[in-house]
Amino acid sequence: MSGRFEGKRAVVTGAASGIGRATALRLADEGAEVFVGDIDRAGGEALVVEAGGRIAFRPTDVTDVAQIEALMRAAHEAGGLDLLVNNAGAGGAREKIGEVAAEDWDRTHALLLRSVAMGIRYAAPLMAERGGGAIVNISSISALASGYAPIAYSTAKAGVMHLSRVAAAELAAQNIRVNAVLPGFIVTNIFTSSVGVPAEHVEPVKLAIAGGAAKAQPVARAGRPEDIAAAVAFLLSDEASFVTGTHLLVDGGMFVGTRPSWDPDAPSMMSALDAFR
Ligand code: NAI
Repeated sequence: MSGRFEGKRAVVTGAASGIGRATALRLADEGAEVFVGDIDRAGGEALVVEAGGRIAFRPTDVTDVAQIEALMRAAHEAGGLDLLVNNAGAGGAREKIGEVAAEDWDRTHALLLRSVAMGIRYAAPLMAERGGGAIVNISSISALASGYAPIAYSTAKAGVMHLSRVAAAELAAQNIRVNAVLPGFIVTNIFTSSVGVPAEHVEPVKLAIAGGAAKAQPVARAGRPEDIAAAVAFLLSDEASFVTGTHLLVDGGMFVGTRPSWDPDAPSMMSALDAFR
């Protein structure tokens, strides 16, 4: 693999699992020294072993601002922070708007939106000292429309998308680019262990989800963490040096249109009307 990140230092949050893990491995494969922060100590330490010294782990809860600052500083003190991926997350409050409690709403937004703002907050001055940097924030297809995730999650992810635009404008003068990646349906622990599926059932449940996911969008296979890692790596790389303040939807075409527009077996509005012709 080419060394697009040779000599760079990166922080990836939530990299003990799933999308963050694949991203940390991808950046390390392409030459970066990667600092991973996660609440999952066992997962983080397993990643360090797998990466053979190219990845360092620091236990970090991104809902605690002091811990975010300490993670950024650790990368800075190792030689300078160049790249940041704000990825850590979980499903959050599942209730509908007529039922959700204020404290669950706040908890969800602290995890999914405030953590991203504070990640940028503490990384940007350190990147500016280096003469610039690049940041990618993991948003979601649910930022774009209803029906993909609960309302607290979807609104936090919409916030991440817009935060990326506004931060990009504010930080351009310091040569820091900021973009968002919006994953579609990616088979990870967010649908299994993160929502309490017992360890022995995780792999069978993931297989079942992958089977369903392959039928959920025009690209007829399940989305993989590596699909998102590839998009993140592009946006962090110098190949994207003219790309800032935007988002990249990586969803196998899920958002492209209503199901009948791509699934020949799905009944369309027109075929419903045909019955009356
Ligand atoms: P995952 O469950 O495999 O990984 C999430 C990681 O974040 C875990 O390692 C977990 O320990 C960590 N984490 C959770 N709370 C944390 C906290 N307070 N502090 C530090 N780390 C914490 O899930 P996945 O799918 O890899 O999720 C990564 C990101 O992608 C999340 O922001 C998620 O919302 C987003 N996403 C995922 C999609 C999917 O279909 N899997 C779709 C759209 C967005």
